[in-house]
Amino acid sequence: MNYAVKGGQLGKQKTGCLILGYFENSNLAPSAEAIDLLTNQFISSLIKRDKLKGKAGELLLLEHVPTISAERILLIGLGDKDNLSDREFNKSLKSVLEALSKSRASNAISTLAELEIKTRDAHWVARQTVVTNEAINYQPGEMKSKADSKPICTSITLFAENKALQAAIKTGISEGKAIASGIQLARKVSDLPGNICTPTYLAEQAITLGKQHKKLKVTILEEKEMEKLGMGALLSVSRGSREPAKLITMEYKGGSAKVQPIVLVGKGLTFDAGGISLKPGAGMDEMKYDMCGGASVLGTLSAIAEMQLPINVVGIIPSSENLPDGDASKPGDIVTSMSGLTIEVLNTDAEGRLILCDALTYAERFNPKTIIDIATLTGAVIIALGRHPSGLMGNDDELCAELTLAGEKAGDRLWRLPLWDEYQEQLKSNFADLANIGGRDGGTITAGCFLSRFTEKQNWAHIDIAGTAWKSGHNKGATGRPVSLLTQFIIDRANG
Ligand code: BES
Ligand code: MN
Ligand code: ZN
Repeated sequence: MNYAVKGGQLGKQKTGCLILGYFENSNLAPSAEAIDLLTNQFISSLIKRDKLKGKAGELLLLEHVPTISAERILLIGLGDKDNLSDREFNKSLKSVLEALSKSRASNAISTLAELEIKTRDAHWVARQTVVTNEAINYQPGEMKSKADSKPICTSITLFAENKALQAAIKTGISEGKAIASGIQLARKVSDLPGNICTPTYLAEQAITLGKQHKKLKVTILEEKEMEKLGMGALLSVSRGSREPAKLITMEYKGGSAKVQPIVLVGKGLTFDAGGISLKPGAGMDEMKYDMCGGASVLGTLSAIAEMQLPINVVGIIPSSENLPDGDASKPGDIVTSMSGLTIEVLNTDAEGRLILCDALTYAERFNPKTIIDIATLTGAVIIALGRHPSGLMGNDDELCAELTLAGEKAGDRLWRLPLWDEYQEQLKSNFADLANIGGRDGGTITAGCFLSRFTEKQNWAHIDIAGTAWKSGHNKGATGRPVSLLTQFIIDRANG
């Protein structure tokens, strides 16, 4: 898809589709007003005739509008003019771009970047337009023998009269493209099945990304090296698998060597059958998505490398399978983590925290300013929060607030859960320093508590994406979350 910015006389623009906005109470957005004047009130009279409410997301497709050069108009309701929030706007944007992709138009001009949205600007609208449109046109049919048909619309131009707006839109478009391709990469590897997307495959994807960007250095640790480092927790998970585990490290050096990096650690479990604590069969295929945390780290590094942000970021992906086998770890086994803490593995299905704890200890060698881990860690987070926000936990209020704000901006939200000492009690073991499960109560929180024991000296947050990383049902597929959130967080840090 091609994206551009343009000014000029709106009525004379040749395009397959002109996107215009209107509000509640028959208020037209400025560009819609201009076209209305040119067309002898064509638009306002239709709004009146059909008693359109102007609610966010309301749509009307107009063909053969007289006097203008556009082949058709897509009118999109935007809600309350004086209260245009980013969430309402995103909803409208999604519905108009979906309508565009289903239309016969081969290109479009959007006038939405001229709107005034509370606390957001044209740069943001341009970025959202690209990210949303790319998400709509993403096709997960990588493994189908016949390629899906290509979208008809191949170009969207954002219209703005004013030169300053045009400049802002231009940077918004290039940011949007980088973020969208990061999301796309994350979705692509997440949707691939476990027999293709193995730890080795994930490592190869990282190596390929490293070759595309000069400032990105990729290294892969093999099981032998993990043994030398004492990663007994991570290795206890991969024992039952014939696919070798990999520890992927991607170092993006966009800032001065003296500046401490942000370290992202993503769970890269390429298939989670539960191990000896085997999962029930129904829906088990979805456990191919247990590497979505790792995929989001890959996608985020791709986005920031493409934007060439002046900041240092390290991405770490511990990657393994979790399968039952004669050599697999058993409930009750005690393993020693790289940190020295011993862990009683009471349930082999609580494996994410085992691979993450060693990766978190490993992360310390990069002298991090902040560590954020991202993981499809607990089914319990879906019970607690549903599938709208990801769960956030951490040991620093400021960091949690910063991440929450980034999520709001990116439309990729978080909700924080507490990591109080009372919950830590649930991880007590009679035989080791801690157990890997804390019982049914507060399962997401006790998983977070487990990780917190390995990050005590760090500025750290944990994001549980088990409810947000993919969709089930007939629209099954990866969402690419939380690449938008993480990229926003890093953009904000890079801007000081
Ligand atoms: N990968 C799963 C978490 C998960 C479950 C994500 C369902 C999405 C949907 C994780 O490894 C796991 O199995 N967690 C257990 C923890 C339990 C054994 C304490 C869970 O959530 O049941
Ligand atoms: Mn599991
Ligand atoms: Zn898992």
